[in-house]
Formats: sequence, structure tokens, C-alpha cells
Amino acid sequence: SGRSGTSLSVVGPANIGTKRLLVLGMGKLDEKSAGDGFAKLGAGLVARLKSLRVAKAVVVLDGPEFNPEAIAGLVAGMRLRHYEFDKYKSKKPDDDTPQPPDKLGVTLVVGEKRATDKAIANRDAVTEGTLLARTLSNEPANVLGPAEFATIANRLADHGLEVEVFDDDRLAELGMGALLSVAQGSARPARLVVLEWRGAKKSSAPVAFIGKGVCFDSGGISIKPAGGMGEMKGDMGGAAAVVGLMKSFALRKAKLNAVGVIGLVENMPDGKATRPGDIVTSMSGQTIEVDNTDAEGRLVLADALWYTEDRFKPRFMIDLATLTGAVMVALSHVHAGLFTPDDGLADQIEKAGIASGETVWRLPLNPAYDKMINSRFADMKNSGGRWGGASTAAQFLKRFVRDVAWAHIDVAGTAFGAPSTDINRSWGSGYGVALLDRLARDNFEGK
Ligand code: BES
Ligand code: MN
Ligand code: ZN
Repeated sequence: SGRSGTSLSVVGPANIGTKRLLVLGMGKLDEKSAGDGFAKLGAGLVARLKSLRVAKAVVVLDGPEFNPEAIAGLVAGMRLRHYEFDKYKSKKPDDDTPQPPDKLGVTLVVGEKRATDKAIANRDAVTEGTLLARTLSNEPANVLGPAEFATIANRLADHGLEVEVFDDDRLAELGMGALLSVAQGSARPARLVVLEWRGAKKSSAPVAFIGKGVCFDSGGISIKPAGGMGEMKGDMGGAAAVVGLMKSFALRKAKLNAVGVIGLVENMPDGKATRPGDIVTSMSGQTIEVDNTDAEGRLVLADALWYTEDRFKPRFMIDLATLTGAVMVALSHVHAGLFTPDDGLADQIEKAGIASGETVWRLPLNPAYDKMINSRFADMKNSGGRWGGASTAAQFLKRFVRDVAWAHIDVAGTAFGAPSTDINRSWGSGYGVALLDRLARDNFEGK
């Protein structure tokens, strides 16, 4: 019928010298559905090839819709769908069903080769970033602790990023008492990684992305219930997306200056761990009563945000964090929660969300939420209680931003465990890379 999602498989039409001819229905794909629609088509193609256990295919893309951008979208969809995190499966399922080959080789037959190669390389940079973020999220915490994460980030220097890794002594010198208070219950020390991409003239202020990198969040002394605690290996999804994003800037040589700052810790209960009631001093000098050691992400971000503004004076800061269960209560896995006092930035991020398919929904900041985190003993406490938990967390972060535009994106519902889509079958989604890449492309490059 030609409808999208349909296909017809013809075995061995001898006259074309191939084993199998597969005809895919595209449905109606127009300019508007470029990117997303073509990515879906590519994903569908890979799904079909996998189920047929095909290892090699020649794909003929014939028709005016297949412009370079569209084909790049199709290739992105193919790669995103093909991704599988199976490195810890030592055995394949032992039934008789033959498995699809690990590697799929696809040759595309296109009209304009040069322009298409260029478009694919450009889009592929973002796909690479997303896949890196997925893998970082999928890795278990015994393999990927703060130091290991920092080592992987450090390797991005090979692609032209400048990378600095700070160990816990250096973080103590900088006065990052909030971040360090989270790490102190873990046998694995904290790290802070700064990644810089210089793609524009030196005088142009960078844009900055800050990621929550809690490699495992047990809750600490305010320990989480056992059920589902294993998912907290993904509590570094924000940092993973920041690293993926910086990689994509480098791969496609983006024409902007950007910095990525990620705070890497493990939140564990221990004799040395922070207790509820403890008061810590952040790099900003503001004191925080740790009301609940499970509200650790904001402690990490407090120092990472302060440091970023202090050192780089960026055009804006956007932080990404798997920050609250409350944002999932509000938005489920459908959108990430967006918090910002800046209507212009909100508009740009919302638009980038729609264009990239990684959508956000704006939720409120308000002085009333600020009241909820006042502390009897310190400048503030790290928990505002059950009600409005996503907003009180965001309001907390705002206290660590002074003079730059800022947005906070709570990705607790979107970074991992979201339902499968055409282009994502992975637990860790890599959410945020495509969103922020789109934001940068559409608003901040070459300007
Ligand atoms: N990492 C969690 C939030 C989370 C929960 C992310 C589920 C993804 C899935 C965060 O550190 C946390 O524990 N937040 C607490 C805050 C509360 C103690 C104020 C929460 O949301 O319950
Ligand atoms: Mn927590
Ligand atoms: Zn957490």
C-alpha cells in the first residue's frame, strides 16, 4: 500500500542479481517531517533488516524527497535504532532462532553524493553524541564510577576538546563543600570535569552546559527503598548528555565556544557519610542544611553552577539533571521539565525540543517555592518536602546563579527507562544531546 511502516519482501528476483528485494512504504513524507519522519523511516528499515537477519544491504533512495538533509535523518534513524547495549551478554539466547548479525553494512544509492556525505557527517556527529550518552547511562556503577567517567570524558581530547579533570583535593581547595559532602560516604572520590570547545573567536563568550553526574544514588543515609534502586546507576544521565553534546560539537566543528562542566560523585551510606542535619558550606559561601541526603543532585549542581559562572562568565548556563521523582509525577517520560526565569531562553529551548523530538515542558519557579527551602539553622536546606518537589529543587539551584541567563532541565523521566520508540530501544536514552545541539545550531552558531 505504500503506507508508512509497511513493507514487501521479495525473495530472489533472479533478474536483478540479488537475494532479496525489500520495498518499504514511506507514507507521506514532506519537508516538515524532515529529520523525524526520515529518522523513523531509517529506524523501520533497520528493524526490518534485523528481523530478516540481513548483514548487507544496498538501499536505493529514489525520489525528490531524498535531499541530503532527509538522507542524513534516515541514516541517524538507522544508527539510533541499530544501537544495542549487549556487551555484558556472554551468551546469546539459546533457542533456535538465528540472531541478526552484529554489524549491518548498508550502501546508499543517492543522487548528490558530495552534498549527502556532508549532511550525513554533520548529522552523524549528533548521533555519535547520543550513542555515547546512552552507553554511559547503561554502564553499571561498578564499572563506571566518578574516576572512570572522568577518564572517558578525558579521552575526548582526541577530538579537539580541551579537558581538565579535578580530583577531590583540588575540589576542596576550590571550596566545593556541597559537592564533596555527597561524595564523602563513598569509597570512590569525586571528580569535576571541564570540557571546552573553541569553535569561534576567542572574544565570544561561551555557552555553558552543566551536568549532574551521580554515578550511583543510593540516597545515602536517607537511603532509598530497595525496589528499583538499581536504576540509580542512571543518575548521571545529565552529565552523560553534556559529554555527548560536547563530543558532537567537536565532531562537527560547531562554530561556537562552549563549555561543559560535570560533577561526578557516588552517593553512598557509610560511617563517613553526610548525616541529615549536617550543615555544609558551598563554594558560593552560602550554607546548606542537609535535610535529606537523597536530595544530593542539587548539592553537586550548586557548586558546579557557581564554578561555571565564576570562571567562564558564559552567555547562559543550562543544567541537565535527573533531579527529582516529582518531575516524573508531573510529566512522566513524555517531556523533560524546564525551569527558567528567562522567557527568551525558554522559547528557544521549547522550539529546539519540538524540532529535535526531545521535548520539554515549562514548570514554574516562584518566590513562594523559595520560602519552602529556608532553614532554621543555615542559609537554606536541601529539601522542600513532598509538594512541588521539582520546583523547590529548581528554586534551590537558582540561588547559585548570579548574573547570567540560566535554565534547568530535569531529565529524571526522560534520561532512562522511557518506553521504546522507533529510534530508541535502549534503557539509557541519551536524551538532551539532540535537544541542545539543535538549540545551539538554531540560535548561537556563527553569531
Ligand atoms: N536521583 C533522584 C531523582 C530520581 C528519581 C531520578 C527517580 C530518576 C528517577 C534524586 O537524587 C532524588 O533522590 N530526589 C529526591 C529528592 C527528595 C529527597 C527531596 C526525590 O525526588 O524523591
Ligand atoms: Mn537522590
Ligand atoms: Zn539523585
